Amino acid sequence: MAETIKPHGGTLINRLADAGKREQLLQEAASLTAIPVNTWAISDLDLIAIGAFSPLKGFMNEADYSSVVERMRLADGHVWSIPITLGVTEELAAQLAVGKRAALVGENDGVIYAIIDVASIYKVDQKHEAKLVFKTDDEAHPGVQKLYTKPSIYVGGDVHVLNRPKPEKFQEFYFDPAETRRLFAEKGWRTVVGFQTRNPVHRAHEYIQKSAMEIVDALFLNPLVGETKSDDISADVRMRSYLVLLENYYPKDRVFLGVFPAAMRYAGPREAIFHAMVRKNYGCTHFIVGRDHAGVGDYYGTYEAQEIFRNFTAEELTITPLFFEHSFFCTKCGNMASSKTCPHGAEDHLHLSGTKVRGLLREGKCPPKEFTRPEVAEVLIDGVREQFTASGI
Ligand code: ADX
Repeated sequence: MAETIKPHGGTLINRLADAGKREQLLQEAASLTAIPVNTWAISDLDLIAIGAFSPLKGFMNEADYSSVVERMRLADGHVWSIPITLGVTEELAAQLAVGKRAALVGENDGVIYAIIDVASIYKVDQKHEAKLVFKTDDEAHPGVQKLYTKPSIYVGGDVHVLNRPKPEKFQEFYFDPAETRRLFAEKGWRTVVGFQTRNPVHRAHEYIQKSAMEIVDALFLNPLVGETKSDDISADVRMRSYLVLLENYYPKDRVFLGVFPAAMRYAGPREAIFHAMVRKNYGCTHFIVGRDHAGVGDYYGTYEAQEIFRNFTAEELTITPLFFEHSFFCTKCGNMASSKTCPHGAEDHLHLSGTKVRGLLREGKCPPKEFTRPEVAEVLIDGVREQFTASGI
């Protein structure tokens, strides 16, 4: 079996309670102060539990939080760029105490998801957090907007996870890092490139994935399926589009599709670092960062998510980022290219904005095949129709 890359911090964290202790912990949890958790917090909790967020063992305490916000590192120096925090109201904070435990209970379903060993209760300045993490405190930014909905008192501490969220669809594509690591090793893959996406795979994505595949053993197509902003194409439709694309255009023995059940932060450069560290935990040795990775609107420069990697050494990242220029179809070259490989001007390049593509799909029209594979376009047209009929738009 091939040897896999070490997880971030050296050890794959597992915070799922042992079967033997679970019943006792569930009983204990029933008598503890309950902290309500929303879908976002449950997703973070689950990713901590399965080691996707290694070396985190819980929600960040004040020292880690400040260090991550100010210098993109945990207090012990490990690279980490996005705060993973649990917000509580003032009333609830007054009922908690450092050194005591609390239960994390689903706000919609009443399920006891975990116990937290409360190690830190602290008030934060969310505007400051927004400016450093998102590079803006503008409420129009979807990540900042989400941050401001969270109470500004945070509770940090290790977690013991008792129940996991159940995926409604595509269960067969949920793999924990321990599983992907084992599967990659069994397949004999020494190098695996991770690909983050919150979009359908268009030709530009396919081009950069396949360019990367020329130099590594395999591709881990790892679409994010947690919360995204409402005008992004739903995870359900995207999953159908990935399946039809893989079926028709990718070699079966060199691609692995598994979902990333995290929420999208839209934090651009900082999220690129975070995405890379997490994919290392899933067993990827390489990670693709293209144009405006995890960006939104005009908040980040086109290549800022690549430039940020210069703040860290190869030794501390260990996963290798693969950077790609903006890619497009060039009518003169007659193929996909980027400014690195194509000498022609913008007039020969096919450019379609997201808004334009969404407009075409909504009208039931296929974008050009040089932009999206026809099989993918068909799935998207059906999906967009369902999504908008369902939402009454
Ligand atoms: S993201 O928010 O998940 O980054 P998206 O799904 O569009 O959005 O992008 C997935 C990956 O492909 C990112 O690394 C992004 O930088 C890259 N990418 C998207 N479109 C292009 C393009 N036309 N040229 C080069 N890279 C691209």
